[in-house]
Amino acid sequence: MNSGTEQLEQWLQAALEKAFGDAAAGTALRIQPATDPAFGDFQCNDAMGLARKLRKPPRAIAEAIVGALDRDGAPATAEIAGPGFINIRVDASWLAAELADATTLPAIGAGKTLVIDYSSPNVAKPMHIGHIRSTVIGNALHRIFKALGYNVVADNHIGDWGTQFGIIIKGYREFLDREALERDPIEELQRIYVESYGRTKAGDDATPEQKAAAQEWLDACRTETVKLQQGDPDNRALWREFIRLSLGEFDKIYARLGVKFDTVRGESYYQEQLAGVVESLERAGMAKESDGATIVDLTDDGLDVAIVRKRDGGFNYTTTDIATVATRIRDYNPDEVIYVTDERQQLHFKQFFRICDKLGLVPGNCKLRHVWFGLMRLPEGVISTRQGNLIKLETLLDEAEKRARAIIDASDKDLDDAAKAKLAAQIGVGAIKYADLSHDPQTMIVFTWDKALALEGNSGPYLQYAHARICSLLDKYRAAVPGAAPTAARLMLDEPAERILALQILKFPGAVVRAAESCRPNVLADYLYALSQSYSSFYQRYPILKADPAVRDSRAHLCELTARTLRAGLDLLGIEAPERI
Ligand code: ARG
Repeated sequence: MNSGTEQLEQWLQAALEKAFGDAAAGTALRIQPATDPAFGDFQCNDAMGLARKLRKPPRAIAEAIVGALDRDGAPATAEIAGPGFINIRVDASWLAAELADATTLPAIGAGKTLVIDYSSPNVAKPMHIGHIRSTVIGNALHRIFKALGYNVVADNHIGDWGTQFGIIIKGYREFLDREALERDPIEELQRIYVESYGRTKAGDDATPEQKAAAQEWLDACRTETVKLQQGDPDNRALWREFIRLSLGEFDKIYARLGVKFDTVRGESYYQEQLAGVVESLERAGMAKESDGATIVDLTDDGLDVAIVRKRDGGFNYTTTDIATVATRIRDYNPDEVIYVTDERQQLHFKQFFRICDKLGLVPGNCKLRHVWFGLMRLPEGVISTRQGNLIKLETLLDEAEKRARAIIDASDKDLDDAAKAKLAAQIGVGAIKYADLSHDPQTMIVFTWDKALALEGNSGPYLQYAHARICSLLDKYRAAVPGAAPTAARLMLDEPAERILALQILKFPGAVVRAAESCRPNVLADYLYALSQSYSSFYQRYPILKADPAVRDSRAHLCELTARTLRAGLDLLGIEAPERI
């Protein structure tokens, strides 16, 4: 919690010590936001837990604490309720002072380094909407941790190595469509992959000639992979070109999403180290041969077996992740490494973390954490390549912008075309992101356009509109009161809904900290939605521009603080907050 609540805690603590002296030593009183505003603004429930230590009924303890409170210039008043709750009602002037830096976040991450591995798509494959959650959740965490003072290294661990490259190289040489490649590089590389992969297969009812042809194609693909791995200049050049083309396409999407990485080290970056990883596992007595492959048996840990070297000598995903984390520890000395992927990789990360543990690879000060999320589904089913109902992320964003544009056009704004297009992008992308971020990552999302783009209810556009409406109210205020600066006005906060709104604003830093600690951006989204609702009760209940000047100025100030908090929160979620909609 922020320093203001600490001040209230110290006020109570002084009373506890005054009332009970040494008997209370070692107890630190804590307060929390009241569960119901009817009972006050904050509450302290610690009298219950002190009954045994102080050998008194909780209510008597609460009475003694309240009786001993210093009332002189006190920040609040306190009352006892029920068996010994202390309800605290803060002073309007205390609230006003606290609000001055309500959007300042505590630097809980100062001196700490965090690596976040997110997005991490695979080269030569389109980023489809199954990837959106890693990119969007990972980026929100990236922004949140950074705002809390952490030194964050955002690493896009792209899948740029593996046997699929032999398949693509072979196909590229045999049936590349240059024009298609220029039009949509990833689409064409994907087509080549699918076609070339198809040629390695022959059905059960295939003729012997067809089977031989499939085998021949497969062998040729393998040869290309081996040549690539051995550094053949032509294959290396092609492979580099595939990466360049893919990154170009990924970057277009990242630009639309406002996502920036600090480093992009793909799987290939660690290739030289993989043999060494297997050797160290063997030296530690953790690896053994099985059917020609090398495995780490984790069945005693209930984690099955992890293959670290295939029969053909190739290395696995686990092997690469071990090399990757060793490199990250060496290069960044992080306090935590966070991996954001979908739920299907849970076993992989459990195995990999367990192996690191057994190898003693990760120093005691460093934590490894897998933040997994449920897959996103359309009402008709999972969005996945295998099921064929693949929706590309790009298509999804285009559609979101198109639909947002239709809403903007319908409300006949006198904006020019460029301004409308910009707004459509802000609203469309914001809607997609918020539809994702407003859910607990570990739940499955059924994505529907109606919900994502709804102008009412818990949606991105709703919060953007709420923010823009406050901005336009403030414009009117400035026009009506020339020279006025809303934040210079004295805050009065005498009405109940004003207090509720003010207290809600003060919960912002706590919500950001909780979102970070739980790695759940939805905690922040929920907070912002609650804030917009407190604002709307306030706005509906009291006149603002028509109120008496001192009250009007105070309310304008509160509006400004609300807008600022909404903007700061949306920014942490990676969502833009245009001032005019
Ligand atoms: N490229 C992988 C995929 O698309 C995700 C990589 C996640 N990061 C990691 N260090 N394993 O499934």
